[in-house]
Amino acid sequence: MCGIFGIVTDKEQPLGPILIEAGRWLSYRGYDTVGCATLKNDGSIDLRKDAGKIDQVSERLRFGEMSGSRGILQLRWATFGSPSQVNAQPHLDSDGDMVGAHNGNVVNNLELRQQFITEGMTVRSTNDGETCVHAVERYVDRGASLLDAIRNAYHDLEGDYAFVIGRSGEQELYAIKKGSGLVVGIGEGFTCASSDLPSILPLTRRVVRVQDGQIVVLRSDGITLHRVEDGLPVVPRVETITETMESAKKGGFPHFMLKEIHEQPGVAGELLHLLEGSPDVDRMIERIASARLLYLVGCGTSYHACMLGAIYLARLAGRPAFPILAPQFSAQYGPAVSPEDVGIFVSQSGETKDVINAIHVAQDRGMGVLGLVNVIGSALTQVSEVYLPLVCGYEISVPATKTFLNQVVAFLYLALRMGKHSTKSLVETLPRLIQHTLEITAPQVQALEELLADHDDLYCLGYGLTYPIALEGALKLKEITYAHCEGMLSTEFKHGPLSAVDEGYPVLFVAGPQDVPLIVSGINEVTCRGGRAIVVGPEDSRLRINAHHLITLPAVDGETSALLSVLPLQLLSYHLSLARGYDPDFPRNLSKTLTVD
Ligand code: G6P
Repeated sequence: MCGIFGIVTDKEQPLGPILIEAGRWLSYRGYDTVGCATLKNDGSIDLRKDAGKIDQVSERLRFGEMSGSRGILQLRWATFGSPSQVNAQPHLDSDGDMVGAHNGNVVNNLELRQQFITEGMTVRSTNDGETCVHAVERYVDRGASLLDAIRNAYHDLEGDYAFVIGRSGEQELYAIKKGSGLVVGIGEGFTCASSDLPSILPLTRRVVRVQDGQIVVLRSDGITLHRVEDGLPVVPRVETITETMESAKKGGFPHFMLKEIHEQPGVAGELLHLLEGSPDVDRMIERIASARLLYLVGCGTSYHACMLGAIYLARLAGRPAFPILAPQFSAQYGPAVSPEDVGIFVSQSGETKDVINAIHVAQDRGMGVLGLVNVIGSALTQVSEVYLPLVCGYEISVPATKTFLNQVVAFLYLALRMGKHSTKSLVETLPRLIQHTLEITAPQVQALEELLADHDDLYCLGYGLTYPIALEGALKLKEITYAHCEGMLSTEFKHGPLSAVDEGYPVLFVAGPQDVPLIVSGINEVTCRGGRAIVVGPEDSRLRINAHHLITLPAVDGETSALLSVLPLQLLSYHLSLARGYDPDFPRNLSKTLTVD
C-alpha cells in the first residue's frame, strides 16, 4: 500500500532527515520504490527516487542532504507500472515546475495518459501518480488557479486515492482525498499531511482528518480546508491525539488482524474499481475462455479462495475449473498437463515455495500461468503472463483476512464478467454489505466467546458455496486459537466424524440461503446427540428454530452470502484467540510467507 507525506515549513532548511524519518514510519505499509522531492525558495525542485528500500535508496541518493521549505516523500507499492526508477514517485509535470505524489489507484490511468500524450504533455512513466500531476497541469495550463485545477482534476481521476502536490515559486502544498487515507498535522512553524498517523505523531499531535471530497492547503502557519464541489472553505476539526505510536500503527485497533478485518470494505471497493477499468481482466478472461482445462492453484487460505473461485466460475460462467493444492498439482495432474491448459496461481505473498514449485511444473509442460497476487514484484508477478493485483496493501497479521476476501472478490468479478452478467450491483453494493456484515455480526460473535473459549476440539461444516468458507473458518480457528477445528462438507459429517459428538460438543455450520433444508438436517444430526449447533447464515426461521445459536448475515444471493459468511468466522477466531490468551497476529510455529518446501 503506498504512502505519501508532505511538509511545509517557514524557512528553507534541511528537509531530507524529516522526510526519511516519515518514510520509515510509513514503511510498515509495504512498498517497493521510494522517492523525495524538495521545493526551494529559488524555484528549483530537487527530485530523487529509485526502486528499493528506504535506508538503501536514501543513502545512495543522499536524501539526507536535501533541503527546501517544502518537501514530499512517497513510498510506492506497485500497481500501475513496474517497480522501477521511472515509475517511482514523486513525479514532475511537463515543464518540471510542479511535483506531486499519490497513494491509491487511478483506475482510468491508461485512458488519461493517452489523453495527456495527445494534448502534448510530457509523460515519462506508466504510473498513475504521474497521471494525477498531469491531470492538475491540464487545468493550470488553461489558466486555473492551483486550487481550481485540483478541483477539476478530482472529477477526471477515477478510483480511490489521495495526493499531494506543490508548485515552484509558491509557499503552499495542496493535498486531496478520495477514498484513501489522509491526515494533516499542525505544528509550530510547519504543517504536514500523510497517508496515516504514525508518520505525523513524532512531529505533532495536533491533527485534522481530511474527508473525501476535501482539499487541504498546507501553509507553514496553518491550513485551510476546501470543498471540491465549489471550493468553499470548511472549518477544520482539530484533534489532539493521545494514543501511542504502536496503537497508531494499528490504526487504533489492538491488533493488526482486527485492523485488517476492518479494512475489508475499503480494499474490496478499491479492487472492484481497479478491475472495472483494467484491460488485464479482458486478457485473463480471454486466456481462461480459450483454455482446454483450467486449474486454480494455491496453498492454505489461498487454496480455499481457489475452491470458491471454481464454484463461481462454474455457476456464473459455465466454466469448469479444477482447484488444487499447489504441492499436489504435480502428483495429481503433472503428466496430464498440456500447453493448451491454463492455471490461475493464487497467492497473497507471491513467494510461497509450494506455489512456485507448481509453477515450474506448469511451465515445463508449456501451460499458461496467470496470477492473482497481493505482493507486486513478487516471484508470481514476474512469471505470470497476466496477473491481477489484490490491492490490499501490506497484510501484517499472519492469518490472512483481507487478502482472502479480495481473492474471492476477484474470482466473483471474473466469473460475472465471463458469464456476461452485470458487475454493477457488485461494484456498487459490496463494500457497504461487507461493512454492514461486520457491524451486525461483531456483537453476535462476541456473545459466543465464553461458550466456545474452552473447547479444544470442534468442527466447521459447510455445503456447496459455503464448503470452502467452512474450511477457511476452520483454518482461521486452528491458526490462532491452537484448538483443533476441522472443516468439512456438512454431508460428510455423518460418515464418521459424527461419532465425536457428545453432550455440549460444538459444531459450527455455515449456511447459504439455497442450502437451508440440507443444513437443517445436519444440525439435527448433531443436536439430537447432545451436540451444540452454531450457525452462520441468513435470518431464516428454519435455522433459528433448529440451531442453538444463529449468527445472521444480510439477505443476499448465495454467491455474495458465501463471501460475507467468512467475516464472522474471522471475528470469532480473533476473539477466541484473545480469550485463550494468544497473540492473533503472530501465532506460534507459523510464518506469513513460507519459502521452504
Ligand atoms: C502460509 C500462511 C498462510 C497462507 C499460506 C499461503 O502458510 O501462514 O496464512 O494462507 O502460507 O500463502 P500465500 O502467500 O501463498 O497466499
